[in-house]
Amino acid sequence: MVPQIVRVDDRQFRLYIGQAKIEQEVTRIAGELERDFSAKDPIFMPILNGAFMFASDLFRKFDFPCQITFLKLASYSGTGSTGTVKQLIGINRELKDRVVVVLEDIVDTGITLETILRQLSGFQPAEVRVATFLHKPDCTIREVRLDYVGMEIPNDFVVGYGLDYNEYGRNLREIYQVVE
Ligand code: IMP
Repeated sequence: MVPQIVRVDDRQFRLYIGQAKIEQEVTRIAGELERDFSAKDPIFMPILNGAFMFASDLFRKFDFPCQITFLKLASYSGTGSTGTVKQLIGINRELKDRVVVVLEDIVDTGITLETILRQLSGFQPAEVRVATFLHKPDCTIREVRLDYVGMEIPNDFVVGYGLDYNEYGRNLREIYQVVE
């Protein structure tokens, strides 16, 4: 039995998106990516930590030639003219003229993704697309193009399926929403 309420660290969360719905949306996105990229030798680029579960489910559905390389944003930050600057770590692959598909767990303000896309463009890929499992459109303050979206959700904090609360809860197989 899937619990309706779980405790993660010091907060309670209510069941929000079950495994069947997650599977359905991942399968749909995988089909769209296969349609668009099966002949383009794409590199999939999950953003750690949160996207590992989405990426793993998605990647094993592909039956065409493709590669994967994981990216992380450095936890340190410095201050530049635009405010907080985070560096990408883990780009160890030649991206020039390649099709890159960034995989995100969730897009909230869009600031993280904007940073990633800006830095990736310096590697001169042929094309960069973005697939995110969740999107909170009401919170998104940056102009970022999301090419593939699993589900749009309201502005409520969620955990599970790779997403954390204080680094806990990533292992939950369903997605849970915080109880106010
Ligand atoms: P951004 O605001 O779009 O830059 O999102 C930054 C990061 O915040 C995401 O990659 C997630 O790791 C995290 N995040 C945003 N919303 C949630 C949430 O509801 N649960 C867990 N993590 C979240």
